[in-house]
Amino acid sequence: MTAPVSPVAPKSERDRVIVFDTTMRDGEQSPGASMSLQEKLELAKILEEMRVDVIEAGFPIASNGDFEAVRQVSEIVTESTICGLARAGMADIDRCAEAIKKAKRGRIHTFLSTSPSHRDHILRASQDDILEMITKSVGYARNLCGDVEWSAQDATRTEQDFLRRCVEAAIRAGATTINIPDTVGYTYPSEYAEIFVDLIANVPGADEVIFSTHCHNDLGLAVANSLAGVQGGARQVEVAINGIGERAGNAALEEIVMALKVRGDRLPQWTGIETQHITRASRYVSAITGFPVQFNKAIVGKNAFAHESGIHQDGMLKDRGTYEIMTPESVGQGASNLVMGKHSGRHAFREKLKSLGYELGQNALNEAFQRFKDLADKKKHVFDDDIVALVDDALASQ
Ligand code: KIV
Ligand code: ZN
Repeated sequence: MTAPVSPVAPKSERDRVIVFDTTMRDGEQSPGASMSLQEKLELAKILEEMRVDVIEAGFPIASNGDFEAVRQVSEIVTESTICGLARAGMADIDRCAEAIKKAKRGRIHTFLSTSPSHRDHILRASQDDILEMITKSVGYARNLCGDVEWSAQDATRTEQDFLRRCVEAAIRAGATTINIPDTVGYTYPSEYAEIFVDLIANVPGADEVIFSTHCHNDLGLAVANSLAGVQGGARQVEVAINGIGERAGNAALEEIVMALKVRGDRLPQWTGIETQHITRASRYVSAITGFPVQFNKAIVGKNAFAHESGIHQDGMLKDRGTYEIMTPESVGQGASNLVMGKHSGRHAFREKLKSLGYELGQNALNEAFQRFKDLADKKKHVFDDDIVALVDDALASQ
């Protein structure tokens, strides 16, 4: 059997997409998903092994536990940049700088809302006030750390001309990464791509910084929007394992990474993620948060590489590429699974019998197959033991 192949275009450094994992910060903001210090340290090691570029380990001023997690992750991780979140005030930024002090590579991520809704109802601030706060907070952070990310909270509901001025102020004050969050999961792909195209073309200094996506999944568009952002010029994606995060969650790391990898024929952008660690990371996050992964979840769901229909099983037995666009091995999911059920065909049934040690003649095979179909009509899961029992019965009745 041949593995599916996707022709990959030559990779250039300017198309490299930085993977910023926020499972431990935005992901942990999912109600009920809090993680212990030990769990965060273990997860940080998995993310580092997976070659995640930036790990956002927490929001240091939010609690002593969050501070300690960012501080200790900074001590044990050497390959990834460690980032902490801070609002636009000096106390937040100081606490964040303190937490990442020991990191080999540390980042302060500071943010401020820019949309009319947040300006009027949360901050009660004018546009000029916002611009001043950006200049002060980013400049203050930049004096403490050479790597500063600035996020325009609720960017996608912000007037585009004002967003340009905010981004310009952040760049002038020393931001090295500019994040354009779709905080409430409101945008759609072509619109989100246009925001990046416009900012990159029109904001002075834009070519000196990295632009980042940060998409929430309220309309189920987080992954599509993130990929559109990348096509619009973003070179960092903010993601969470299994897509956990506030409300409907963040863009799922595994989906974006595999979309870029599998469609390397179409998308020149690429990540440095070692994808064979993806399933381990997914299962670990599910175990520590208690959030189950839905069976049909792309990439990491237990059915993502399971085939039940006879037509699909027959195709799979002839060539895996007929019904799989990536191998389960490439994401650490073990092997493809031909599930025996009422839609299974004779070809898969014969292969299943072979794997169980049976080589039946035509009559016995027909008899056993008929019994299998009758059973599968009545029973949701047909296990190997059921098949052994019905084959033995069929053979006895010959
Ligand atoms: O969704 C959001 O706007 C955020 C920011 C804090 C980056 O999570
Ligand atoms: Zn968010």
